[in-house]
Amino acid sequence: MKNFIFQNPTKLVFGKGQIAKLAELIPAGGTLMVTYGGGSVKKNGVYEQVTHALQGRDYIEFWGIEPNPHVETLRKAIDVGKEKKVDYLLAVGGGSVLDGTKLVAAGIASDTDAWEIVLQGKTEKQIPFASVMTVPATGSEMNGGAVITRSETKEKYAFRGNYPQFSILDPEVTYTLSSHQIACGLADAYTHVLEQYMTTPGQSRLMDRWAEGVLLSIMEIAPKIKQNPKDYDLMADYMLAATMALNDFIRMGVTEDWSTHQIGHELTALHGTTHGHSLAIVMPATLRVLKDQKHAKLLQYGERIFGITEGSEEERVDKAIEKTEAFYRSLGLTTRLSEENIGMETINLIADRFNDRGVAYGENHNVTGDVAKEILLSCL
Ligand code: NZQ
Ligand code: ZN
Repeated sequence: MKNFIFQNPTKLVFGKGQIAKLAELIPAGGTLMVTYGGGSVKKNGVYEQVTHALQGRDYIEFWGIEPNPHVETLRKAIDVGKEKKVDYLLAVGGGSVLDGTKLVAAGIASDTDAWEIVLQGKTEKQIPFASVMTVPATGSEMNGGAVITRSETKEKYAFRGNYPQFSILDPEVTYTLSSHQIACGLADAYTHVLEQYMTTPGQSRLMDRWAEGVLLSIMEIAPKIKQNPKDYDLMADYMLAATMALNDFIRMGVTEDWSTHQIGHELTALHGTTHGHSLAIVMPATLRVLKDQKHAKLLQYGERIFGITEGSEEERVDKAIEKTEAFYRSLGLTTRLSEENIGMETINLIADRFNDRGVAYGENHNVTGDVAKEILLSCL
């Protein structure tokens, strides 16, 4: 196991009716800005619950943080925040509203342009923020990451900063998600676990078992949620699984491989592919191209997640990858670029971008532009 420091300061407030706790969770005094997306909160009662909980308190609202939040929109929120001397932010919505709010928190605290902050990849200066999370998927409610898009150049990058002070997770707010949103959320959470797990075995028994527990839980609930997307206990498990998939708990002391996410972000930036869907396309291909490097872990994964114990090692590895792709398809997502009318032009562009940036992702730092091209060709 590698050395590590673990500290996750986010307070999780979980369960039905918990939005009512907002008033006691947000510090009194100061100037609060509540940030929203495009209006889904007005259709599922979340907006009413938030305004009710904040009754009697002065605050301003900022609307219009879009999916895959745009820096161009967030600059406007930063301007408002600076002008009104905002010193606390509450994001109400999905991962995009919260990620955008994380950048607003950094922009208000600094004189650096918002896109510069993203490009720096890391910030320590942010005003405090918290969330009411309405989409189980990203883990943003309990992590320090955020992913921001610059729409004018179709670029999408992540940066790291502080964690939300608290996040309220009420499974009932998920009842209005469409089946496609749920499929993408489950795919995102599943892939987060794989990106922290699918490297080499024997680094930590505990991290492996923990990751496998989250993977198995997601696999178990996915078909049940399809049948019954308004079952409280199912949606509670889904919501908590998504949080646990990316809140630092399953990556203590182990190597990680985020190349699928990096390639997926390019597909979203260039084609608007929903984040979780982009991963369903790229992850099986990453496993196919890197199967020798990940051979031993794929064997363990095949046995523990899919019960694959028969056949040669090569056959078992191939079967584990096939079953992974089948799982994403069982959610209702396509797993090939051609099914989304994405072709060679995009593949070459992504390879060129990676080569120009000189990046090399993955646990062995070998996913360069050329390898990304192989991966994309494998999911064509
Ligand atoms: O904008 P509104 O009107 O609120 O509608 C949203 C949006 O259109 C809607 N929605 C939200 N809650 C709903 C709902 N519809 C019905 N019922 C509800 N309860 O859903 C749409 C999509 O929302 P979005 O926030 O974009 O989804 P998600 O939570 O999947 O976030 C995706 C973004 O997070 C980034 C992705 O790259 C993408 O930009 N990620 C963030 C990560 C992080 N911070 O750690 C890690 C992830 O890997 C990911 O990259
Ligand atoms: Zn993700």
